[in-house]
Amino acid sequence: MAWHLQHPHSICVTLIALDGMIKLLLLPVWLIQLCTQAKSFKNNPVIGNQMLNRCGLHVLRMVLAHGIMRLRFEMLGRNIDKKLKQAFLKDGFIAIPNVLSAEQYNNIKNEVASVNAEVRECKQGDTLTHRILLNETVQKQLPTISAMLSSDSYLSLHKFASGKNTRPVSYIQTIKNHFSDGAADPQKNLHSDTFHPTMKSWYFLDNCDSDNGPFTYVPGSHRLTLARMKWEYEKSVFICNDGDKYSSNGSFRATEKDLKAMGLGGPISLAVPANTLVIANTHGFHRRGDANKRSMRTEIWSMSRSNPFNPLPGFDQPAFAKLQNSALGWYREYCDRKAAKRGAKSSWHVVESRNTLDDVDAVTMEKEAA
Ligand SMILES: [Fe+2]
Repeated sequence: MAWHLQHPHSICVTLIALDGMIKLLLLPVWLIQLCTQAKSFKNNPVIGNQMLNRCGLHVLRMVLAHGIMRLRFEMLGRNIDKKLKQAFLKDGFIAIPNVLSAEQYNNIKNEVASVNAEVRECKQGDTLTHRILLNETVQKQLPTISAMLSSDSYLSLHKFASGKNTRPVSYIQTIKNHFSDGAADPQKNLHSDTFHPTMKSWYFLDNCDSDNGPFTYVPGSHRLTLARMKWEYEKSVFICNDGDKYSSNGSFRATEKDLKAMGLGGPISLAVPANTLVIANTHGFHRRGDANKRSMRTEIWSMSRSNPFNPLPGFDQPAFAKLQNSALGWYREYCDRKAAKRGAKSSWHVVESRNTLDDVDAVTMEKEAA
């Protein structure tokens, strides 16, 4: 027996048998995931199976998900301003300037500047992103932000745009362009977040322009046209063997040539003034805009995503929102512990300082003076 275990051939056979058994045990999980928002071609060998995608698995999931989400948009869009609703369904985004009074806007700026809460940082290429989760405890310090997030107008628009009858998860987010050494920011490549409609929003606290990288979107690219289905079909077959990291994870990257093949126009930069609310269906192609210089922008950022195969939009239960925020906190702490065991930091790790542009420039000036 000992001889068999030590023999390289036997070890190889044992490992292959073990791998087969694990795959067999996981197969039911991978199959169930087909009916959820799971999107990774890499982590789920059924979603990433080339033969199944040749038979149209990926496109079939898209068609079903888009049909069901359209029903949910209709269910939650009955009390939405007609023009906003039409614009969102036609273009995939809406931008509402001067959404709050000057007084409310100034109060929010002050609250963001003085908030005392856990800050997490993520580095993507040469961009740093800072986020503060706006859970119930943090919102107690921020009465104007809390009032905005709970207002009927904010909630009804977000529920409609996400097709989900629960409140989104919200953060104070600061994007810091060219704040770190590194390659180009991967979020600055045009991409679709996932195969089904999904919502993100930005209430901008700073003016957005080519200096600090405005949100960039391809109008109408959220719609499931025949040309889009053809492109998705070809991409789904191709990436089973040879996809870039992000496309293989289910966030398909698109080039200008791809946009033309899908009959889409070019991307537009949403250079909008502060106090503008932008809500987008990020199934449509979008990216962080290019920034001409080291710069930052701060916003109240919200997102909402759900199982697109569930025809029911859900119920707005404050207890559920609380649990959702707690679960996010626990998940981040779990990632911290897991990374710490490897002697590393998690991708969204806690940072001591929020590092304003002035702080960084002061350090640079000191270095230059030295
Ligand atoms: Fe995205």
